[in-house]
Amino acid sequence: MPKTTTILGQYPETRLRRNRRDDWSRRMVRETILSVDDLIWPIFIREDGTEGEVPSMPGARRLTVTEVVEAAREAENIGIPAIALFPYTNPDKKCAEGKEALNSDNLICQAIRAIKKACPSLGVIADVALDPYTSHGHDGVLRGYHVANDESVEILCQQALVQAEAGVDIISPSDMMDGRIGALRKALDGKGFEHVRLMSYAAKYASGFYGPFRDAVGSKGNLAGASKATYQMDPGNTDEALREVALDIQEGADMVIVKPGLPYLDIVRRVKDSFNVPIFAYQISGEYAMIKAAAQNGWLDHDRVMLETLLAFKRAGCSGIWTYFALEAAKILTAD
Ligand code: PBG
Repeated sequence: MPKTTTILGQYPETRLRRNRRDDWSRRMVRETILSVDDLIWPIFIREDGTEGEVPSMPGARRLTVTEVVEAAREAENIGIPAIALFPYTNPDKKCAEGKEALNSDNLICQAIRAIKKACPSLGVIADVALDPYTSHGHDGVLRGYHVANDESVEILCQQALVQAEAGVDIISPSDMMDGRIGALRKALDGKGFEHVRLMSYAAKYASGFYGPFRDAVGSKGNLAGASKATYQMDPGNTDEALREVALDIQEGADMVIVKPGLPYLDIVRRVKDSFNVPIFAYQISGEYAMIKAAAQNGWLDHDRVMLETLLAFKRAGCSGIWTYFALEAAKILTAD
């Protein structure tokens, strides 16, 4: 017999509203708590003299290296555990092979060095994928019409090493090539970077919600409507997500990501029920843009909806959330 019926009778003896009667008792029985420790803050960076505003992502400006150091200090002071960096690459630095990704003095590496120097107790995450650097906007190199898997993985390993040399704490591959986690682990360990963590985008779906991100890193025009469906997952699939996660864990992932976030909470829950590994959800650009737009129109209460979505990720089983709201949420969560 279910526990509830043995312990409790039915209405009118049982009244679930009793626990909800006062704020103190609601707090006492609350099952899920959101804290500043749950937040990872993705930030876009740009070269001096380029445009900062991203119209489709209000409040998430691209920052120069100087500005990002200030933002990092703010994150560190308020207790955000880690920030994640994404570059806007000037068009003249893009090519079909994404070579700028391997430049040890590129924008990302400059930012990593500057942030690690200024904020030693803040975790710094860098993305591994070629899309901010390729003239075609894909995450790997194209051979004919296809993104070549193994050749791309080799380049991604070099990209990771360049970032590790700059001092990054976590490498986060978002490219969805097969076998890249094992290859990255081996490449990093081979150069003495066994302490660098791998947070893999294990279940990353081919999503329409990435639109504003592609505005922010400037890859939308390069992609010119092309699809990433040959490497990112089909939104109809869920068993396949478990296979992706299982493989990434086997290959050496320390933590895994499910992405996008809110429309894929069922995936988070299935991964949580199946594996003992820290899971993060990425509340992506399109999710952020929807809330911002609705709030700007006065259709939703911004702070309330923001915190409710973040709590939903925790309830579904996440250890933490990548979110462009991180600083705004942290301010509310740490206010007394
Ligand atoms: C690409 C990458 C994407 C995001 C993070 N890394 C977009 C894509 O796959 O096209 C999306 C993040 C967001 O939408 O906020 N490697």
